[in-house]
Amino acid sequence: MTMHSAGTAAPRMFEPVSIGALTTRNRIWVSPMCQYAAYAEDGVPTDWHLAHLGSFARGGAGFVLTEATATSPEGRISSLDTGLWNDEQVRGWKPVVDFVHRMGAPIGVQLAHAGRKASAHVPWSEQAGSVPEADGGWETVAPSAVTLPGFRVPRELDAAGIAEVVEGFRTAAGRAAEAGFDAIELHAAHGYLLHQFLSPLSNTRTDEYGGSLKNRARLTLDIVRAVREAVPTLALLVRVSATDWAQDGFTEEEAAAVARWAGDLGAEFVDVSSGGLVHGIHYPAEPGYQVPLAERLARDSGMPVSAVGRLSDPSHIESILAIPGIEAVMLGREFLRQPHWPLIAARELGYDLPYWPERYFRAK
Ligand SMILES: Cc1cc2nc3c(=O)[nH]c(=O)nc-3n(C[C@H](O)[C@H](O)[C@H](O)COP(=O)(O)O)c2cc1C
Repeated sequence: MTMHSAGTAAPRMFEPVSIGALTTRNRIWVSPMCQYAAYAEDGVPTDWHLAHLGSFARGGAGFVLTEATATSPEGRISSLDTGLWNDEQVRGWKPVVDFVHRMGAPIGVQLAHAGRKASAHVPWSEQAGSVPEADGGWETVAPSAVTLPGFRVPRELDAAGIAEVVEGFRTAAGRAAEAGFDAIELHAAHGYLLHQFLSPLSNTRTDEYGGSLKNRARLTLDIVRAVREAVPTLALLVRVSATDWAQDGFTEEEAAAVARWAGDLGAEFVDVSSGGLVHGIHYPAEPGYQVPLAERLARDSGMPVSAVGRLSDPSHIESILAIPGIEAVMLGREFLRQPHWPLIAARELGYDLPYWPERYFRAK
């Protein structure tokens, strides 16, 4: 094995990359992952978030993204989600942001609204779907009163309700800047509210927010515009589901068009995922199964993208990062298994990582 060291070329995953004006020290990013650990059900992050997100930054991640963080109380997936709709939550995020910075990584918050998938049980609960109001659940909203099996029927948002959603994202973005976040990722994937508007399977509206792709994309684009105005200097990413994996659903062509329009309004990077709108469907789930979606979206939209999905093998990741347009990878579950994955991968690749934490030098 040849030893890479200062002066010789780093493996591509350890090269810096930029999201607009923000530079991340490498291309191994932490995928957003809900922790259901805002224990007081007040949306305020806790010691769990500090340990959880902090360990990835200490372990050499290039960029850390938080879990889906709600822009309003009713937009939470569960009562244990984090939020950014009040100042107490800003105060709660600050130490997490500061610690990740101290470990050398920028941090972005994934801003979200769960729409019809809000008010849900935690995934390890014996029950699935909506929590009833009697047990602390709440009314959900969506583009149309179209439900998912096991979930309550959502209330169709009217024009005022849509404007409130946009405002929720705008003010949450301002609060993210106050907390010190470097970036915002808009969650327009996985069957949550923005994706519910994008997909014809969940959006049957006949007003300017439904029908044509331009209309279905209007809410996402309104939010891109509002967030860009609120925080012109923060990096801005959008996560999309590039396909619903379902007949008559949102398509790869449509996802590329939405990405391009978002780029025109100031979004700088697209995080390409898939699915989540229709449950119980089958799709290929081998390591890298979403890479072709990312490659195509990058080509068709001209936007820089990240790929995600069961990635864990360093040489596989190197080959993905050689694909034009794929500028970074996101790791989710592999980071849960190995929070220091970048340190371990660097060792495996014989690369002398310059930001190995001094306190851990003896393990190098
Ligand atoms: C525990 C857990 C929580 C997740 N929460 C979110 C989330 O909050 N937002 C999101 O966009 N994706 C979420 N995801 C999806 C991941 O970000 C990622 O796209 C997916 O797990 C595939 O990557 P992986 O195979 O590396 O885990 C979650 C996944 C896991 C395992």
